[in-house]
Amino acid sequence: MNVLIIGGGGREHVIAKYVAKNPKVKKLYALPGNGGISQIAECVNISAEDIDGIVNFAESHSIDFAIVAPDDPLALGAVDRLESIGVKCFGPSQNAAIIESSKIFAKELMTRYNIPTAKYKVFTNLDEALSHAALSDCPIVIKADGLAKGKGVTVAENFKQAREAIISCMKDKAFGASGEKILIEECLRGPEVTVLAFTDGKTIIPLISSMDHKRAYDGNKGPNTGGMGVAAPNFYYSDEIADDCMEKIFLPTINALNKEGRKFKGCLYFGLMLTRDGAKVIEYNCRFGDPEAEAVLPLLDCDLFDILLAVRDEKLNELNIKFKDSASCCVILASGGYPGKYLSGYEIDFGESDKIEGVEIFHCGTKFENGKYYTSGGRVLAVNAIACDFPSARTKAYQAVNCIKFENMRYRSDIGAN
Ligand code: AMP
Ligand code: GLY
Repeated sequence: MNVLIIGGGGREHVIAKYVAKNPKVKKLYALPGNGGISQIAECVNISAEDIDGIVNFAESHSIDFAIVAPDDPLALGAVDRLESIGVKCFGPSQNAAIIESSKIFAKELMTRYNIPTAKYKVFTNLDEALSHAALSDCPIVIKADGLAKGKGVTVAENFKQAREAIISCMKDKAFGASGEKILIEECLRGPEVTVLAFTDGKTIIPLISSMDHKRAYDGNKGPNTGGMGVAAPNFYYSDEIADDCMEKIFLPTINALNKEGRKFKGCLYFGLMLTRDGAKVIEYNCRFGDPEAEAVLPLLDCDLFDILLAVRDEKLNELNIKFKDSASCCVILASGGYPGKYLSGYEIDFGESDKIEGVEIFHCGTKFENGKYYTSGGRVLAVNAIACDFPSARTKAYQAVNCIKFENMRYRSDIGAN
């Protein structure tokens, strides 16, 4: 089969690496891909948001199967367009991807179907939002309705911060149309858990749980990022909590989407908070998390591409999906300055990192030129180690990190320490 992966980060690199192992995959392309992916797939410089470009490429290269990994093309309807020309896809249609692309839609769905989440109010008017914030006990959470490259959420500790966030969204239009409507939410407390789940709209199979580390600096300080590292499984997510989530959150979400005529096929991302009153949904994403995918997909003990095909063909119930009895620690190596401004174009020296057993290095923002790798993004590499238990995985991941060098390299040294 001719297979196409859309996207160009660490998530797409781990997907490409595991998909390429399946003998059914004869030719693999990535749009746009990156330096690491270029060693496995043919990378073509078409943006993941250029839906016309993607569709034309798929048609002219006789693509049989496409994996649409990032949020933007899913929200723009890439799956619908590709399926309409006969390309089978892994990923939800646009009308199901709305579970991520509109936080208001997601909240209203949860309310309609009694799925536990933080209390909230929707605002379309600046003054009403400001007066509500002024009357609320802080902390409160301000969220832009639409996609905002992971930057649309502010946990405001006081009214001043809430006011700044509301003005930035609704008046200064920091996120364009995505911030015209906002949510103001109750602030929940407790450990956060990510659960990625394969679903074909009938069966839902959660993968091993994980803990993302969203803040830029050690001790969970600094600005939010796309994710600076992952521990998997998540230490707080017991079997009992998992059963509870299946009953009260995962199955009800799939059923709710079906009832609304929005069958979801792909990977559904549950961002949960384990509060004193039980697990509650913080957010849904309509795709694999990044960097969660880099930590969790290597823990699968079966073929990834067969799962993706089964999800598309609604045959997930026919598979026996197994997981390794192991743990992952994933550390992101970023460019100094990220998530703000940073410089790139620096050569990467991998040292002896590839000699450490259980370590895999996924490229998030790199390019490959004349036999050498150079930095080309805020998040540069995801260094993942697997071992029989988490402390051993963590030791190996940091051993590998210590072998790697590039100018202005920065990382968190406390992944999985809390
Ligand atoms: P999101 O962009 O939706 O992933 O949100 C970013 C981060 O904001 C989450 O990972 C949480 O740490 C935090 N957050 C979002 N909603 C809430 C909430 N209702 N209560 C507490 N923290 C929240
Ligand atoms: N790591 C969080 C996300 O992918 O949204």
